Amino acid sequence: MYDSTICSIEDTNQIALKVSEKIREGTILLLNGDLGSGKTQFVRFLGNHLESVDTISSPTFLILNIYECKEKLKIYHFDFYRVKDVQELEDIGFFEILNDEEGLIVVEWAERYQEVFTKFKNRTIDIYFNFIKDNIDCREILVKGNL
Ligand SMILES: Nc1ncnc2c1ncn2[C@@H]1O[C@H](COP(=O)(O)OP(=O)(O)OP(=O)(O)O)[C@@H](O)[C@H]1O
Ligand SMILES: [Mg+2]
Repeated sequence: MYDSTICSIEDTNQIALKVSEKIREGTILLLNGDLGSGKTQFVRFLGNHLESVDTISSPTFLILNIYECKEKLKIYHFDFYRVKDVQELEDIGFFEILNDEEGLIVVEWAERYQEVFTKFKNRTIDIYFNFIKDNIDCREILVKGNL
């Protein structure tokens, strides 16, 4: 578990590296933070560290992108920003993916439906991204979980 860190974009990469070392099949990363706070950028760095063979992009309109990685791990990259209700999550197979405990599950805008994660706390890492007043070149990142 980290304290909050003020970080440039390169520091974000270092935090993504540390987090990537803790990931195993079934790990759930909940990314919380305002528009443009750096969630997708973090997943991009994470994908590099996990050797994704696919390009990481924002799944805002699709809700889910899936990337294959070397070492077999898959990344399920969700974005809840445009999800209308829990039924929509059900329809795209979200709960099956959660219950399968395979691959890495990453969720942007997780706070919009945080109740769906309560029974998976033991494999969840929460990451919070915040803007810093008067400094657009940095962010505050807080990681909470079993690191
Ligand atoms: N630590 C950082 N320091 C400075 N800029 C950063 C940092 N992390 C990300 N950024 C920049 O912030 C911008 C927005 O990032 P990103 O698209 O990842 O946000 P997001 O949280 O995914 O937004 P959305 O909620 O719209 O999905 C990008 O230009 C990115 O390079
Ligand atoms: Mg995003």
